Amino acid sequence: MEQNTLLLTNTLLPDEYRKLSSEELDERIRRAKEQLGKDLVILGHHYQRDDVIQYADFRGDSLKLAKIGAEQKEAKYIVFCGVHFMAETADTLAGPEQIVILPDLQAGCSMADMADIEDVEIAWEIMQKKWGDTIIPVTYVNSTAAIKAFVGRHGGTTCTSSNAHRVLEWAFKQKKRILFLPDQHLGRNTAYDMGVSLEQMVVWNPQTTELEEVKGDLADVRMILWKGHCSVHQKFTVEQIERVRKNDPDMKVIVHPECSFEVVQRADYAGSTEYIIKTVQAAPAGSRWAVGTEVNLVQRLANENQDKKIILLSTTMCPCLTMNRIDRPHLLWALESIVNGEPVNQIKVDEEVAELSRLALDRMLAIK
Ligand code: 13P
Ligand code: SF4
Repeated sequence: MEQNTLLLTNTLLPDEYRKLSSEELDERIRRAKEQLGKDLVILGHHYQRDDVIQYADFRGDSLKLAKIGAEQKEAKYIVFCGVHFMAETADTLAGPEQIVILPDLQAGCSMADMADIEDVEIAWEIMQKKWGDTIIPVTYVNSTAAIKAFVGRHGGTTCTSSNAHRVLEWAFKQKKRILFLPDQHLGRNTAYDMGVSLEQMVVWNPQTTELEEVKGDLADVRMILWKGHCSVHQKFTVEQIERVRKNDPDMKVIVHPECSFEVVQRADYAGSTEYIIKTVQAAPAGSRWAVGTEVNLVQRLANENQDKKIILLSTTMCPCLTMNRIDRPHLLWALESIVNGEPVNQIKVDEEVAELSRLALDRMLAIK
C-alpha cells in the first residue's frame, strides 16, 4: 500500500453485499444517494465500468476530476470511483472537514507503485552529483502522495496526460533538465513532440540505479525518464496498428500517450482520455476508429457513438484490473457506511506530506 497515507479503516467487503441481486444493488445505491443528498459527491474516472459510472455525479479524466474534486466544498463526503492515487489527490485538495472514500482499498495503480519514494531519493542524490542543480522533478499524477511531496519540495510540479505539454514547457523554463516520473512513455512522447530528440533523453532504472538508453552526450540530456509504465497501455503494439491498416486503410488509429513511443509514432492521433473522447465524438458520422486505451472507455465510446465504427485496437481485452475492482457491491457498502455514521475506506494523506504535495498540485493547476 502507498506510503504516507493513513488508512483509517481497512476492512473487507462484508459477505452480505456480495449476495445482493442486481436490482437490490441498484435500489439500495439510489436510496443511499438520496439519503445523503448534498453531503455526498461521487466522482467517476472514465475507465470505470458502466454499472458504476452511472452513479457518478461527475465523470472525467484525472485532470478534470482533480479540478472538480477541489471545487466540491459543500460535500462532506467525496466517494472516488477510480484508483488510490486519484483519491489521495482528492484528499490533498479537499477541505479539512471533508472525507474522501475509495470504495475498494485494493484499487491501486501498478504504474504509481513503480516509483517508490526511497528509490527516488537515492536517484535524486546520484543525479545531483552527476548534473548539479540543473534538474526539476515533474511527476505524472499517477504517483503516490509521497512522490508528489518530493516534487513539491524540490520546486517541481505534477502533470496529467491532458496538460503534460504545458507543464513540460513551464518546467523547461525553470531548469535545463527534467526528471520525469513514473511513466517513461508519457515523458518521452510529450518531450519528443516538443522537439526534444531521443538523443537528449535517458532512462533511469531504479533497480540497477543506472542510466539506460544513453544515445548522446550526458551533458546534453534534457529528459531523465523514470523506468515505469502502464501495464494496460503497454499491451498496444505496432503490429496491431499494421493489422488495422491492412484490413481497413481508412480507419483512424487513436491512442493514449502512455503507449510506447513506436505505437504513438505510428498512430494517427495520440492524447489523453478527454482528448480521445472529444476527437471521436467530433468526428463525422461513418468514420471508423481503432482506439488504444482502456476497454471500458472504448466500449462506452462505441455505445454512445453508434453512427461511427469504434473498435479496440487490441484483439485481446485491455481492462485496468485495479480500476475494475470498484463494483456496485463496494460502492453500496461505502455509501451505506456513510449513512450509518461509520464511513469505511477513508483515504487520508498525512498532513506534512499533503502540504508539500498540495504545493506541487497547485503549481500544476496554476499553469495555463
Ligand atoms: P487520464 O489522465 O487520461 O485520465 O489517465 C489516467 C490514467 O490512469 C490512464 O491510465
Ligand atoms: Fe494505472 Fe494504467 Fe490503470 Fe491508469 S490504466 S490506473 S496508469 S494501471
